[in-house]
Amino acid sequence: MLSFLSRMPSLHPESRLLIVWEALIVLVTLYNCFTIPFRMAFNATISDNWFSLDGLADLILIIDIFLRFHIGYMKEGEVIKDKNQISQHYRNTDFKSNVIASLPLDTLVYLFLPKASLILIGLCRIPRLLRFPQCFLIFRKWENNVYFNSAVIRMFELFFIVFLIDHWIACLWFFIGNSTGQSGESWLQSNNLHLENTTTQYLYSFYWSITTLTTIGYGDITPQNNIELIFTFVVMFVGVSLYAFVIGNVAAVISNLDANKNRFRDKLGQVQAYMWERKIPPSLQKNVLDYYQYMWEYNRDVSLDFYLLDELPNSLKTKIYCYLYQELLSKVPIFQNAEPCFIEDLVMKLKPRILPPYDYVIREDQIGHEMYFVKRGQLQAFSEKTGKVYTVMMAGSFFGEIALLYDSRRTASVKTLTYCELFVLYKEDFDKVLENYPQFSAKVKEIAQQRYQMRD
Ligand code: CMP
Repeated sequence: MLSFLSRMPSLHPESRLLIVWEALIVLVTLYNCFTIPFRMAFNATISDNWFSLDGLADLILIIDIFLRFHIGYMKEGEVIKDKNQISQHYRNTDFKSNVIASLPLDTLVYLFLPKASLILIGLCRIPRLLRFPQCFLIFRKWENNVYFNSAVIRMFELFFIVFLIDHWIACLWFFIGNSTGQSGESWLQSNNLHLENTTTQYLYSFYWSITTLTTIGYGDITPQNNIELIFTFVVMFVGVSLYAFVIGNVAAVISNLDANKNRFRDKLGQVQAYMWERKIPPSLQKNVLDYYQYMWEYNRDVSLDFYLLDELPNSLKTKIYCYLYQELLSKVPIFQNAEPCFIEDLVMKLKPRILPPYDYVIREDQIGHEMYFVKRGQLQAFSEKTGKVYTVMMAGSFFGEIALLYDSRRTASVKTLTYCELFVLYKEDFDKVLENYPQFSAKVKEIAQQRYQMRD
């Protein structure tokens, strides 16, 4: 095992294998944090099964000491994978505490002093708890890992802290009750729990710990002497701070969970305040709010998405746009069987636009600067002069190409009939696409001609 570890190449600090290993270290630390105080407080005898589990947990921690010489670390945004540097860094940080945490004092005591008390064996295992603060470094690392949901990690961390504090206080409460009971009344005797088995005693202790920490205190288990009374004060005091910390953190995690929704709500609040201050007529205000409602339901705020993507390199942006526009691309017949480079070129030029019902997109006889593709909704092309409806367009249609192709005025008006999601292609981009992709150009020209003739 050791020779394998010495020949092992250094691991990337964010590698998946390492995450699994770190999870194992957290689990072993949780095991130690649970069993060590429990056995000392409840004087619980160690069966062979527990003894093998202890051995396994210790073995994992020992392997970790050696493994850590092969785990790279981050320094000023760079991954350090040089073994000498890793070893130097590890020696200066956790190495000593990890070695102390793994000293097999309990095994030595068990072997040489077979009659040693369980409390002494437990005391020898206390150095294992030196690993406890490292769990928080692991949680911090996971929180910063983009593949993890930081809210889930944070909630797990809070649960981890609260559970262990509750457990430690339960163990201490039982220990105090058990020790003070010798000379007088204790909470164990007043509830006849000194006669019960360890499981029941632990459950009652844990129950007292939770009810006192949360300051619920039902009053069924009460302190019976001064030491228990002082301990109860301390626990209540710790409880107030602990639960204030937990509630504050849970609230922060929950509010961050739906950050997008909160941003949208803020934006809506600003729009409402703006319209209210400028005394916009209520019917118009309603139209604006309906529009935002639609934006939220169907797009989760498109404008925000595009602003966020601006930071990405073109190659990644193209892939994301191709994915986002695949619904449109699959609906527009002239895009089907198109070359991939044409699609990649085009998606970068399309700009999203959402329009409410009965809104004019194009007015007859105006000069045209752009054409449109329909992703969702219904529109009609008609003549405002004669009232003749030329066509009703749906998802997959395009319009506004005639004025661009022939440098003419708009041949018809186009009005939305429902909420519509469109993609706009501006004239300069349209011209470039026609120039570079003759197949697309031919198809658009053919359809434009048909429409123009139909109109006549
Ligand atoms: P354009 O003239 O730029 O602006 C109005 C658009 O309406 C026009 O381009 C076409 O895309 C569309 N259009 C005009 N006439 C018809 C028709 N008969 N059938 C379908 N669409 C039309």
